[in-house]
Amino acid sequence: MKSPKIQIRSMNIADIPAVYQIEKDSFQYPWPKKEFFVELVRNRFAKYFVCYLEKEMVGFLGLWLILDEAHIANIAVKPTYRKKGIGHLLMNFGEQLAVQARCKTIVLEVGISNSIALDFYKQRGYKVTYRRKNYYAHSFEDAYEMIKELNNACAGN
Ligand SMILES: CC(C)(COP(=O)(O)OP(=O)(O)OC[C@H]1O[C@@H](n2cnc3c(N)ncnc32)[C@H](O)[C@@H]1OP(=O)(O)O)[C@@H](O)C(=O)NCCC(=O)NCCS
Repeated sequence: MKSPKIQIRSMNIADIPAVYQIEKDSFQYPWPKKEFFVELVRNRFAKYFVCYLEKEMVGFLGLWLILDEAHIANIAVKPTYRKKGIGHLLMNFGEQLAVQARCKTIVLEVGISNSIALDFYKQRGYKVTYRRKNYYAHSFEDAYEMIKELNNACAGN
């Protein structure tokens, strides 16, 4: 039997509705749809990617490449496709891109109650550096800032 085809490609404006659906299914306070538009059209540091399994969008990743630092802006996998390795595929892709762009570190923020994402990032070698008070605008939840040092050896882990 043929194995299903998985593909990561750059996100474009036509992808916004499907990305927004995954966003809504993934977060209590989702980004508004227009935020994705702004990221794609106005943010010159932003790189967004979508992951397709055959013809179905199953996840997306957004990162900012700013000089020697990369920043994970957003990542989500469609709930029914979680725990199948898609999150790791997206992060491998983003980290490799950051290495190619000569970034030295990659940073992100994660809500302190998001234990699944926290485990996921720890498993990938991210370390908590500090706790940002009331980081999230709607929930006022604190966030952990996490950092991973990048080098050619670690991209692809
Ligand atoms: C975090 C997220 C992107 C991971 O994507 P994924 O495709 O499920 O991840 P993978 O299958 O590649 O990796 C699984 C790892 O994630 C963590 N994880 C995923 N689901 C988990 C669960 N139900 N319970 C505990 N850990 C879980 C574990 O570290 C797991 O590793 P393991 O399989 O060795 O136990 C996904 O859970 C998601 O979209 N969450 C909602 C959005 C979100 O919180 N984004 C991060 C914002 S900072």
